[in-house]
Amino acid sequence: PRNIFMSRHGESQYNVEGKIGGDAPLSARGMKYAQVLPALVKDNIGDCEITVWTSTLQRTIQTAQNLPYQKLTWKSLDELDAGVCDGMTYEEIEDEYPDDFANRDDDKFNYRYRGGESYRDVVVRLEPVIMELERQADILIIGHQAIIRCLYAYFHSLPQQELPYINIPLHTLIKLTPKAYGCDEERYKAPI
Ligand code: G3H
Repeated sequence: PRNIFMSRHGESQYNVEGKIGGDAPLSARGMKYAQVLPALVKDNIGDCEITVWTSTLQRTIQTAQNLPYQKLTWKSLDELDAGVCDGMTYEEIEDEYPDDFANRDDDKFNYRYRGGESYRDVVVRLEPVIMELERQADILIIGHQAIIRCLYAYFHSLPQQELPYINIPLHTLIKLTPKAYGCDEERYKAPI
């Protein structure tokens, strides 16, 4: 592909409450991001003809709702499944599942939530998405933190141990341009 644009969804109600997973709507600030995103995209895609990919979760769909491009929803782009910890805060997880909390800290890439997924699982589930990305021209992905980390690590060839800690800020559009060796990158922060 020529360019891959990616962004996390706008701030969600769960982000505000410090909860993971779920299918919460955007917060007021997240809605603001959805409002300014069309201009941020338009100003930075040049004359690219883009298609927007979202997950099936409402926070990505709401973030993309004002974008005037063709859209596609992918179940494979849904956030890492936290299993029994879905909807909990990190504090609650540490209280209720202290061993799991420590194990995740020891090996975040391989740790699999009870009844849920690991980052390794997500990398495997993203394989078809990456294959399709490689075939397509210009795509804008509105995704989730763990998902964007995996895609970002793939295009920058970052090692597995680093992947779960990559900083992907909210309300920022990332442009990746794969080159013969490596990948160029630009970031555009929303004025909100
Ligand atoms: O639950 C999904 C979060 O976006 C990933 O955050 O893997 O750093 O806990 P974390």
